[in-house]
Amino acid sequence: MTENAKDDSNTPDHEEATRRYYESNDVDAFYDAVWGGEDIHVGLYAHAQEAIADASRRTVQHAADRVEDLLGPDATVLDLGSGYGGSARALAERFGCRVVALDLSEGHNRRHRAVNAGRGLDGLIEVVTGSLGHLPYEAERFDVVWSLEVLCHVTDRERALAEAVRVLKPGGALVFSDIMAAEETPAQALRPALSRLGAESLATPSFYLEHLSGLGLKADFEDHTADLAIHYARLDEEVHRRAAELRSVISAAYLDDLLANLPLWTDITRRRLLRWGLFHARRGAGATAS
Ligand SMILES: C[S@@+](CC[C@H](N)C(=O)[O-])C[C@H]1O[C@@H](n2cnc3c(N)ncnc32)[C@H](O)[C@@H]1O
Repeated sequence: MTENAKDDSNTPDHEEATRRYYESNDVDAFYDAVWGGEDIHVGLYAHAQEAIADASRRTVQHAADRVEDLLGPDATVLDLGSGYGGSARALAERFGCRVVALDLSEGHNRRHRAVNAGRGLDGLIEVVTGSLGHLPYEAERFDVVWSLEVLCHVTDRERALAEAVRVLKPGGALVFSDIMAAEETPAQALRPALSRLGAESLATPSFYLEHLSGLGLKADFEDHTADLAIHYARLDEEVHRRAAELRSVISAAYLDDLLANLPLWTDITRRRLLRWGLFHARRGAGATAS
């Protein structure tokens, strides 16, 4: 069974390793070149050859559809692990809502602020450097808490969920996606693939559903594991097809590592060892987080 590690003692070291991973020039150049500079998450694919950037945009639109009843000019969203800011901009543009976008990486945040300013969205989006394990906000502040593909990097996921729910208004929604293990997948089967991200273990869908229920939320999970398989096949194809071009922005060592590692992801995804999808959880109106 996959571990859902809870270990406060290694959290700062683990966060520092995650921050260094995202701030390395190679990793940044890979995500920028292959995803297109807005998003870094799994796409929802219209077909198996769709552009990764277009499918990734669809994930944002679909997650936003799930919470559109809560969003408008008076609402505020907290985007946990906001990356390049694609979600924050899409939400601010579509709903006119405010977004507080929090990420560990000051490199991502600098870039995020610059793009927001260029698009005239800096009045709606506040970009904050920090960790989702220690949110510097009072309870019940946000209408929606949002997080796409971040929790796979977190060691103490119980704490992350509790923090997210603490800052959610009664009646508010938590919407997030994550790359997870299938329920019976042994942790060691995933380690060779996970090593590239520095992630130690993955959660499972039942882990999230049980913990969300324990926190008093009504939650559902949309299983889009088939899109995860397409996504890794597309990444693998793109990096192989564009290897010569990528060599001008990525070091030879990192590119060789990617060329060796991405087929491992394609393999474990096709063998159904992983799960991916969207969680949508609502806090009861008037409910206090337990
Ligand atoms: C895969 S990227 C996803 C970015 C963005 N959510 C998106 O969908 O495009 C993961 C992001 O989570 C951030 N991150 C990882 N661990 C974090 C933590 N403990 N607190 C805040 N941000 C974190 C990373 O710096 C990175 O920007």
